[in-house]
Amino acid sequence: MAAFARRIERLRPSLVREILAAAASSDIISLAGGLPAAETLQAPAMPADGWQQYGQSEGDMPLRIAVSELLDSRGLECPAGRIMLTTGSQQALDLAAKLLIDEGTRVACENPTYLAALQVFRLFGADLREVDSGMAGPAPDAIAKCFAEGAPNMFYAMPSISNPTGGIWSEDARRALVERCDRAGTVLVEDDPYRETSAGPHPAPLVGSLKRAPWIHMGSFSKSLLPGIRLGFLAASEDLFPLLVRLKQGADLHSSRLSQAIALADLRDPARDRRLARLQAIYGERLEAFAGALRQELPMAGWAKPSGGMFVWARLPGRDTSALLDPCMKAGVAFLPGRECSPAGGLGDWMRLNFTACDPERSREGLARIRRCLEELRSSI
Ligand SMILES: Cc1ncc(COP(=O)(O)O)c(C=O)c1O
Repeated sequence: MAAFARRIERLRPSLVREILAAAASSDIISLAGGLPAAETLQAPAMPADGWQQYGQSEGDMPLRIAVSELLDSRGLECPAGRIMLTTGSQQALDLAAKLLIDEGTRVACENPTYLAALQVFRLFGADLREVDSGMAGPAPDAIAKCFAEGAPNMFYAMPSISNPTGGIWSEDARRALVERCDRAGTVLVEDDPYRETSAGPHPAPLVGSLKRAPWIHMGSFSKSLLPGIRLGFLAASEDLFPLLVRLKQGADLHSSRLSQAIALADLRDPARDRRLARLQAIYGERLEAFAGALRQELPMAGWAKPSGGMFVWARLPGRDTSALLDPCMKAGVAFLPGRECSPAGGLGDWMRLNFTACDPERSREGLARIRRCLEELRSSI
């Protein structure tokens, strides 16, 4: 038997991957994953020459410049020299964890937060501290309490459209976190893949307000272009960037240059704004239809309309949604139980519902299947 690294004891399967695999191989309606609508996925033209050879670990300079300009347009000044293309923004999370987390390192996250970030942070042995968060982010007092209990080495946050809530942080929450990170020297890791899924207005990236604290900001081409090209990016403060480049070299030398060429062509495309407006309109319509179906099919659910992203975060008071998943899968519908999004495994009566992947008819049928399951469970008590 091979001897594994100690961290492998902490390696957990991803429930969402298992649900997606089960849903793909059957007629299960999946409201579980975060898949873009098929209508938004256009096959790109094959880029001409220039991408076939090995490239730089940081990524190709024309694309780094284009990403720097994109961030500038969002309100974050970061030179192209401190932009790195990554293999999905998931890789940026992995590199951040490798850089900052040892066994027992204190890492603060919102509760709820992005489940695949939790998976990586746990693998590296993070001592996870959760800060309750809602549609307007955490209450400033909750942020203060978290730091008063011992400053985390890293704070992972989604201030501009969270997965799963779809909320945008209030000014108060933003100011509170920036002040605390600056005072304690806590690294602010800001994850921002969803901003282009809705028209906005969107606040400027939060890391731009820091005066002293180190930071990493990450974005993605998955939600606004094509998830299959597996391309994201990070921008980082001066002290962190060179170390992240070395970690990237060890991970995969560099991200696909073909994918980088596709992303560059898109950023330079004069029709990009029109394409994004169409994508945002499709998601706006899907959300309206989903909200209507949710009101009708699950009137007992508590939820608030998201400002963008791909999910509705809903509560079924008093119902254990982890226990509900199995009968629902048997009835042909999948969702993500809230517990998966909770650093300490709370939020047991919440669920994350995707509204982008299925057409409105199918989503409604999915919600109706959940309702029928709830009715059957009630009548069998
Ligand atoms: C908040 C958040 N961060 C990061 C990712 C990873 O995205 P990708 O690796 O496709 O860029 C996702 C994907 O769903 C996400 O929701």
